[in-house]
Amino acid sequence: MAALDGKVALVTGSSRGIGEAIARLFAHQGAAVAVHGRDVRALDAVVAEIERDGGTAMAVTADVTQFAEIEAMRRQIEERFGALDLLVANAGGSPAPPGPLEETSEEAWRAAVDGNLTATFLTLKSFLPGMKTRGSGNIITISSAAARRPHPNAPIPYAAAKAGVQILTQDVAAQAGPFGIRANCIAPETILTARNAERIPQAVQTKLAELHPIPRLGTPDDVARAALFLASGESSWLTGIILDVAGGAVMV
Ligand SMILES: NC(=O)c1ccc[n+]([C@@H]2O[C@H](COP(=O)([O-])OP(=O)(O)OC[C@H]3O[C@@H](n4cnc5c(N)ncnc54)[C@H](OP(=O)(O)O)[C@@H]3O)[C@@H](O)[C@H]2O)c1
Repeated sequence: MAALDGKVALVTGSSRGIGEAIARLFAHQGAAVAVHGRDVRALDAVVAEIERDGGTAMAVTADVTQFAEIEAMRRQIEERFGALDLLVANAGGSPAPPGPLEETSEEAWRAAVDGNLTATFLTLKSFLPGMKTRGSGNIITISSAAARRPHPNAPIPYAAAKAGVQILTQDVAAQAGPFGIRANCIAPETILTARNAERIPQAVQTKLAELHPIPRLGTPDDVARAALFLASGESSWLTGIILDVAGGAVMV
């Protein structure tokens, strides 16, 4: 029997990158997975890959900064797969470059908070009531190493938004634990997604890797395996944790 047999999962932001790896691993481990994003062609490709692997998946779209769109997506998933067991609120990203606070625009600040913290809040707000009624549920959110320690060249709006995701997750863990719901957060260091492999010059990748006690950059599968642990019964007494998937670059 696979670790997630019979479970229904939504992984937001799984049209590519870390979310895609989580969606594929969860489906491989037996979950019916709602694959989410905005790029329909990318979503269809991920669903096709999962089905080729013998898994079950459906594509759903929603702008996760818009509550009405998330609610419509939730109803669509419930109609096709039934109630959600596993929610991975992964969609997000860092739209603004790092730099001094006074050079950070209000627009960049609002975009980072909206696209990461508010998006996570709205996603959890949509799915928590059903989980509470059913008395079970498992939530995984995604922070970032950027939110785990200060850095003179931090992307401040993103780091602050992701720090917000951490305490949001822990408060939900505290509130919802008595209802049979767990909530944990993963904080990855730089992960070599297809986008990052293209964006970060090779020399910089090598320099970054050297900063890790395990001297390589992380992969989407490193994060996916951590998510599987948190999603499975193997972690049944863990809630409210921030799990650093960071090759030792973050130790707190
Ligand atoms: N990669 C890293 O090094 C790293 C490190 C630490 C934390 N993280 C966090 O890990 C998560 C995934 O990162 P990634 O690098 O895999 O990102 P990515 O490759 O840029 O993919 C982002 C995913 O999120 C979706 N998305 C973003 N904003 C959305 C919105 N408003 N509504 C709906 N979908 C939205 C995208 O959908 P479409 O593309 O289909 O529009 C895509 O599926 C993010 O929360 C990121 O902050 C990443």
